[in-house]
Amino acid sequence: MNIALFGPPGAGKGTQAKELSKHYKIPHISTGDILRANVRDATELGLKAKEYMDKGELVPDDVLIGLIRNRLTEPDCEMGYLLDGYPRTIPQADALTDILAEINKPLDAVINIEVSDEELVKRLSGRRSCSCGESYHLMFNPPEKEGVCDACGSGLYQRDDDGEEVILQRLAVYNEKTKPLIDYYGNEGLLVNINGAGAVDEVFRDICNVMDQHK
Ligand code: AP5
Ligand code: MG
Ligand code: ZN
Repeated sequence: MNIALFGPPGAGKGTQAKELSKHYKIPHISTGDILRANVRDATELGLKAKEYMDKGELVPDDVLIGLIRNRLTEPDCEMGYLLDGYPRTIPQADALTDILAEINKPLDAVINIEVSDEELVKRLSGRRSCSCGESYHLMFNPPEKEGVCDACGSGLYQRDDDGEEVILQRLAVYNEKTKPLIDYYGNEGLLVNINGAGAVDEVFRDICNVMDQHK
């Protein structure tokens, strides 16, 4: 099953991808997570990416295209993949089409999670993250103990790009550079829109209904 989860910052891509990856046993490939791991480890890539991420800008296409090519050719993608946060520009989408043709794993569907701007800002400003990969929300999904991860017991933190000003910039960048991909994949007949406004398990069920058609 070859799927891309698409949607604006805060739509719930990461939240859904985590569960979908377990359910369908395909790897969750989040370019944001890969970039943040590089920032944390202070790699050359991480140092370069951080400048852009902290401002809410996109990391340059050539960097992302190289990164996704390497990731998709790893052996765990043999049974399929679940992309989260890639592609985000037309050149990234064109490169993806070429890479997927080379490895003979074309996309089955692009699932677009739709959420209003007002709700996106609420979700992002209340998000709290853990280094283990879990994420929470102060109101919508609080941890059992304030500030502590249920899964691993570590302290929670707010992502550097989840401050109000950077959130608004990320939404603006989404509208300008990423949203055009809705028409791009619509024209290819791959786009499926999902209402992302409901509870996490409702959205999960709706996405499963789409993915089950591609098993
Ligand atoms: P990335 O990490 O991909 O961030 P993003 O796209 O901005 O999306 P988020 O991770 O913020 O949101 P999400 O949709 O995953 O929502 P989540 O599930 O966490 O990218 C970060 C940066 O890296 C970019 O700005 C860019 O600089 C760079 N980058 C990455 N990929 C790139 C690329 N391809 N090209 C160039 N640059 C790239 O949910 C959000 C919150 O809402 C959580 O608190 C969650 O608990 C809550 N929530 C989720 N679902 C629900 C629900 N149904 N109801 C109530 N609350 C919910
Ligand atoms: Mg995410
Ligand atoms: Zn944790």
